[in-house]
Amino acid sequence: MRILVTGGAGFIGANFVQHVLATHAEDEVVTFDLLTYAGNLANLEPVMRNPRHRFVRADVADPTAVTAALVGVDAIVHMAAESHVDRSIADASDFLRTNVVGTQVVLDAARAAKVRRFLQVSTDEVYGSLGPTGAFTEESALRPSSPYAASKAAADLLVHAAHHTHGIDALISRCSNNYGPYQFPEKLIPLFVTNALADEPLPLYGDGCQVRDWIHVVDHCRALDVIVRRGRAGETYNVGGGNERRNVDVATLILETLGKPQTLLRHIEDRPGHDRRYAIDASKTARELGWAPQEPFAAGIAATIDWYRKNRAWWEAVKSGAYRDYYERMYGARLRAAGGEGRS
Ligand code: NAD
Ligand code: DAU
Repeated sequence: MRILVTGGAGFIGANFVQHVLATHAEDEVVTFDLLTYAGNLANLEPVMRNPRHRFVRADVADPTAVTAALVGVDAIVHMAAESHVDRSIADASDFLRTNVVGTQVVLDAARAAKVRRFLQVSTDEVYGSLGPTGAFTEESALRPSSPYAASKAAADLLVHAAHHTHGIDALISRCSNNYGPYQFPEKLIPLFVTNALADEPLPLYGDGCQVRDWIHVVDHCRALDVIVRRGRAGETYNVGGGNERRNVDVATLILETLGKPQTLLRHIEDRPGHDRRYAIDASKTARELGWAPQEPFAAGIAATIDWYRKNRAWWEAVKSGAYRDYYERMYGARLRAAGGEGRS
């Protein structure tokens, strides 16, 4: 099977491309990625010389480029997206263009090229926020809170409409918070690990008692692999790690693991509209597809921290240039107000 992975040079994409090539000896992968600030060819270094892998640099919102890349493709795993909530709060325009328009462009090109299967890689954030108990099922209402989540919900609805109206063999996965190697250090875990390694403050939003359901990225990749091969057309499949943790506890664990002082923690002004808690009920995916997460959080986070410790050159390169401006815009004033320097 030849799979086209949009967004394959990003965090989950690069892990997924490597996973497919390592576990399916007959498969070919086309990585289709614009290489925005979040895309990085270094993430694909282990497969760049693999004859079963091809890289195309192009935009999912460009119909000509998408159509050209689809020749001979059997399945699309669509994960190209603007993915960071804080950036969507600052400016939502790229989120609408890539996440919404881009998804429709890929759906239309897939229909014209008669691609056999389309998997939309979505997120638990489309369901909004939970109270202290309960978990999202595939039947939960869509109540996105941030512009990012709203753009992903819109894309999911377009996928549903393409299936219903045009008969496209399409399905949707919705996963909770991923962690692991190659994650861009704007997200909580890589940001906090790399700041701690550099002895810089860890900016915790609000009271730090928000809860996320963490899953190791390889467990998510294994789920995507079974969903794209064996999931039922028109269906949605939730994916989650079953590892609910408060942000403050994740931060404390990172500092303890690295032998850094807890005084590096800074409570800063909260994210506007901050979702309080996410939790995923993935029992449908387990029941229908036999998938279950394998990586316990304690082992996965220890290995991940170790990966960032050993791959300093990777994150130091990523945290230079435009990243420094981003960091100052996002954190400078809030950190100074909380009594910490705004450097990173
Ligand atoms: P990421 O930001 O690390 O990577 C996104 C990739 O998409 C980058 O390589 C970027 O260059 C590429 N891209 C962006 N705009 C593009 C465009 N117009 N054309 C082509 N490529 C473009 O994101 P991620 O964390 O790897 O997330 C991947 C997907 O998984 C997203 O769709 C996201 O919504 C979803 N998701 C993420 C998580 C998570 O915890 N990170 C959880 C559930 C679902
Ligand atoms: O749930 C899946 C989603 O998880 C994905 O769809 C998104 O693409 C991904 O970015 C992630 O969204 P979150 O907003 O949950 O992830 P983030 O890493 O940005 O934040 C995790 C939690 O940590 C959240 O409660 C906000 C908090 N946080 C985050 C940052 C970056 C902080 O306290 N400080 C920070 O500096």
